[in-house]
Amino acid sequence: MSLAFLLLTAGHETTANMISLGVVGLLSHPEQLTVVKADPGRTPMAVEELLRYFTIADGVTSRLATEDVEIGGVSIKAGEGVIVSMLSANWDPAAFKDPADLDVERGARHHLAFGFGPHQCLGQNLARMELQIVFDTLFRRIPSLRLAVPMEEVPFKADAVIYGVHELPVTW
Ligand code: HEM
Repeated sequence: MSLAFLLLTAGHETTANMISLGVVGLLSHPEQLTVVKADPGRTPMAVEELLRYFTIADGVTSRLATEDVEIGGVSIKAGEGVIVSMLSANWDPAAFKDPADLDVERGARHHLAFGFGPHQCLGQNLARMELQIVFDTLFRRIPSLRLAVPMEEVPFKADAVIYGVHELPVTW
């Protein structure tokens, strides 16, 4: 039961929100959407960049130190809990130049949006495939897709465990 619940929530909530956010991200950066539309071969890299940019599951990566360790001058004792912010890592200028820019050609494959280590996301390759197929199909079938409300009126889920939008009014 528990495993089925995890797979359904982890597998649906994440990809559903990532699809909506990816659409917002591309529609609000038309020059980036143009790059993707011009060559579907670029969609996989665009998906990696959108995953990095939004890092929707920040905060689900909690860890327990198995031994004393020092990171960035901070000492963590064995047995202490740590919550790792993947969003800070994914927006670290040392790893991604100008991280606040959405740049579908930057080659963001080393992002941490799926976590890291033995417990990193079990469904990441399925998620990648779903997102690639959705974005390719959506913008090919409905090339005139656009937001139906100004960007400031899109209701973002700032208060949810998985980031996303409550709804996304679009037109074409
Ligand atoms: C955009 C889509 C997704 C994102 C951003 C995402 C993100 C994450 C993150 C950050 C973790 C924690 C990793 C860690 O602790 O290091 C995780 C774990 C997990 N994810 Fe995903 N996920 C996505 C899609 C999916 C899908 C489609 C499935 C299944 C069909 C899935 C199943 C799981 C499971 C079972 C775990 C727990 C793995 C473990 O603890 O060993 N996820 N995911």
